[in-house]
Amino acid sequence: MGRIAYVNGRFVPQSDACVSIEDRGYQFADAVYEVWALFGGKLADPEGHFARLERSLGEIAIAMPMSRRALTLVLKEAVRRNRVSEGLVYLQVSRGVAPRDHPFPKTPTPPSVVITVSAVDRAASEARAAKGVGVITTPENRWGRCDIKTVGLLPNVLAKQKAREAGAVEAWFVDELGFITEGGSSNAWIVDAEGRLRTRDTNANILRGVTRLTLLDVMREEGLEVDERPFTPSDALAAREAFITGAGSLVLPVVSVDGKPIGEGRPGPLATRLRRLYIERAKATAL
Ligand code: PDD
Repeated sequence: MGRIAYVNGRFVPQSDACVSIEDRGYQFADAVYEVWALFGGKLADPEGHFARLERSLGEIAIAMPMSRRALTLVLKEAVRRNRVSEGLVYLQVSRGVAPRDHPFPKTPTPPSVVITVSAVDRAASEARAAKGVGVITTPENRWGRCDIKTVGLLPNVLAKQKAREAGAVEAWFVDELGFITEGGSSNAWIVDAEGRLRTRDTNANILRGVTRLTLLDVMREEGLEVDERPFTPSDALAAREAFITGAGSLVLPVVSVDGKPIGEGRPGPLATRLRRLYIERAKATAL
């Protein structure tokens, strides 16, 4: 069965789906997006993603294209039509279609809404998590509003391509003070040499990861202390464990940085446990 996309009010075969060449998302990256993990056909961390979508749209003055309730129905219908149980849902909202001109269109245009659904091979993801992945580091070169989940992802694309060429799966951006901000499409964590969980605080120029937020909750419930404090690539190399979080990676153990092993170069016990706990929580709260 071919995939079905939602484009501006219609479900269409994905191979036929298209938007105008004057869509501002296409021309200016004047658009934001969200990605939900799907467990058993249900949206993981629904509230967190809706809240961040509303915030991202608000920060760039695009109206919510429909109510949360209506959007939930459309997202779920997209999932149903694609018959995907384990996967990802992608939503993009742009400022709409208008003759190319940098400022906002003078006459209000309806936002463009696109939704796609893709399947994920959970067995392959589990195998990858059991082995752990490598990351590389790369200089931070993004704009100062990484808290907005914009589709303007060129630095992330280039960083992740650099990672792939180095045989790694993620690139950690390093700011001018030498601290890791986050990954190209995930947040970064370590269990430091003292055994303390550390991740960058959200006052820094990073995306406020929804998986990160849920995991902080899980950690609190487990009585695990977390230090929301910057760390450097050398801290990561001296750490006991490292991992990344995101709707795509969930909680994924990191076993090397720039080709050098962390600890014994194997997924750590805490990262492995947190992955299990996160997945349990996400399944229990999915919508
Ligand atoms: N990326 N940081 C960046 C730069 C991201 O792009 C993402 C998510 C995250 C993690 O956020 P969350 O836990 O809310 O997924 C952090 C998505 C999955 C993507 O671009 O495909």
